Amino acid sequence: MTLNHFINKIICGDSIELSKEIPANSINLVITSPPYFKQRDYGGLSQEIGNESTVEDYINNLLKLFHECVRILKDDGSIVFNLGDKYEKSSLLLVPYRFAVEVLKQEPIKLVNNITWVKLNPTPRQYRRRLVSSTEPFFHFVKSEKYYYNLDGFMKLSDNPQRKRNNNGNNIGKKYFTLIEGSNLSPRQKQQAREELTKTIEEVKKGKIYSFRMKIKGIHSMPFGGQQGGRRTQILKKGFTIIKINGNSMKRDVIESAVETLKGIKHPAIYPEYIIQELLKLLTRKDDVVLDPFVGSGTTAIACKKLGRNYIGFDINPDYCKMAEKRVENVKIIKPLL
Ligand SMILES: C[S@@+](CC[C@H](N)C(=O)[O-])C[C@H]1O[C@@H](n2cnc3c(N)ncnc32)[C@H](O)[C@@H]1O
Repeated sequence: MTLNHFINKIICGDSIELSKEIPANSINLVITSPPYFKQRDYGGLSQEIGNESTVEDYINNLLKLFHECVRILKDDGSIVFNLGDKYEKSSLLLVPYRFAVEVLKQEPIKLVNNITWVKLNPTPRQYRRRLVSSTEPFFHFVKSEKYYYNLDGFMKLSDNPQRKRNNNGNNIGKKYFTLIEGSNLSPRQKQQAREELTKTIEEVKKGKIYSFRMKIKGIHSMPFGGQQGGRRTQILKKGFTIIKINGNSMKRDVIESAVETLKGIKHPAIYPEYIIQELLKLLTRKDDVVLDPFVGSGTTAIACKKLGRNYIGFDINPDYCKMAEKRVENVKIIKPLL
């Protein structure tokens, strides 16, 4: 079958069998969240993945699919798998990591990142003898060093609309003004400290830096060692130093996002469209072809349509396929005026 047969379609069936029909080296990105091990029943269909009796059988089934994903992936493509873990007899099985280790042993691929999804609204069930699980990995695998990567397209931590800004309102850094006044610095040093502190607070408010710390002579402990111009020298000469933290502008392997629960959508395990959009911008170009072999409610296809990527979605449950098709259909693309 040619690739055109699959393009921009949701196809109902077993993803291992269906992916065998896709031509080799034709897909730019596979991005998916397979059914988690023994977590849910998606209709009790015979080829459904996730209901195997052992974790080894579950991983073997996923490996069969992954092998096909590697075959159909273009040389500069990526594969992203999001997996969840499972407790058995009060012990974590480490399912995602066992899967990743097996994949790395069996397939000619590299693991670029283990991106951690931090759930802003995890299931509010507090156990008495363990902490609430609130993260899941998104493994980013590639076939070769030539993988397409658009770092500029990916969010900075500070750009995440779901994250509260870390600038503590108008109080940021205020305590340092009090400390400067109470210090033994000379009047000239105090003046310089106030001026530099005011400038730094502005930088945080404008989002140029993430945060800062100030060390004042006689109040804070002195840093050890140090070269010319180092922190220690600055404190000795000026009476203070300001340590700027640029963390917010870094592109980090963490994505914070709430778990999706969409009104009227009857699918128990939807992943956040926000994360998928960010990864599409990072790992694909416009018109690239993206496969989600476990498309569920259609999140990947929706994100692709919105961002001008082609999608292919598989799911074994006919009701989910219909739901995904309908949701994608409802996405209206607004073409920019020329
Ligand atoms: C975790 S859900 C995916 C949810 C999806 N990411 C979303 O946002 O809606 C996993 C999906 O895999 C489907 N599935 C299970 N076994 C399958 C198989 N062998 N082939 C294709 N789909 C399968 C289930 O029906 C379920 O919809």
